[in-house]
Amino acid sequence: MATNGSILTERRSSASEYLKFLQAWIRKPRQTASIVPSSHYLGRLMAAQIDPQGGRVMEFGGGTGALTREILATGLPVADLEVVEINEALAHNLRGSFPGVSILQAPAQSVLAQSAGGAGGYQCIISGLPLLAMSKMLQKAILGEAFRLLRPGGAVIQFTYSPRPPVPERLTSLLGLRAERIGTIVRNVPPATVFRYRRAADIMQD
Ligand SMILES: C[S@@+](CC[C@H](N)C(=O)[O-])C[C@H]1O[C@@H](n2cnc3c(N)ncnc32)[C@H](O)[C@@H]1O
Repeated sequence: MATNGSILTERRSSASEYLKFLQAWIRKPRQTASIVPSSHYLGRLMAAQIDPQGGRVMEFGGGTGALTREILATGLPVADLEVVEINEALAHNLRGSFPGVSILQAPAQSVLAQSAGGAGGYQCIISGLPLLAMSKMLQKAILGEAFRLLRPGGAVIQFTYSPRPPVPERLTSLLGLRAERIGTIVRNVPPATVFRYRRAADIMQD
């Protein structure tokens, strides 16, 4: 049972997480794209797509670690998780919060060379990147890099604040991919929808 002391510590740490996020948003609003970290309901739905015994997972856009926490709660070994975060201050904080997890301070669109698993080495990518706010060119570069990292059958799990997929359908099919809706979480600020991107050829084999 939580004690008054542990509730206070939890409140202080979520307030400081919120402040870190807010600072990142003030400096780079387009890159951070939200002023509040994701809720654990959203993180849990995304993390449920992982097989904890299924090998390496990469997270794109770690922020303050709201999704990282839920990924690790699945039982995935820390050594199987790499988190990519472009913002230096947020990457530094993630290293302190998640000992043993490899934090790569890099743009997700060119992270392959720094990754431990290399091309085809990952079962899944959990993405908190603000894809909807990005140019089509950047969306293409990010999905391209993600599917170089993923093994056959692998998937990108992406949340978005729109009820529709964040990447236009023309671009998705140009890349040989398809988006499938996983679910909507209203207990998130703002409500968010989760999509799974997979290779169209893998979906046809199902
Ligand atoms: C909407 S926040 C999500 C943070 C966290 N995953 C969550 O759900 O609360 C997006 C995060 O992606 C990071 N980011 C934006 N563009 C990026 C890129 N090209 N490569 C890596 N990280 C990026 C931002 O710095 C920010 O921390």
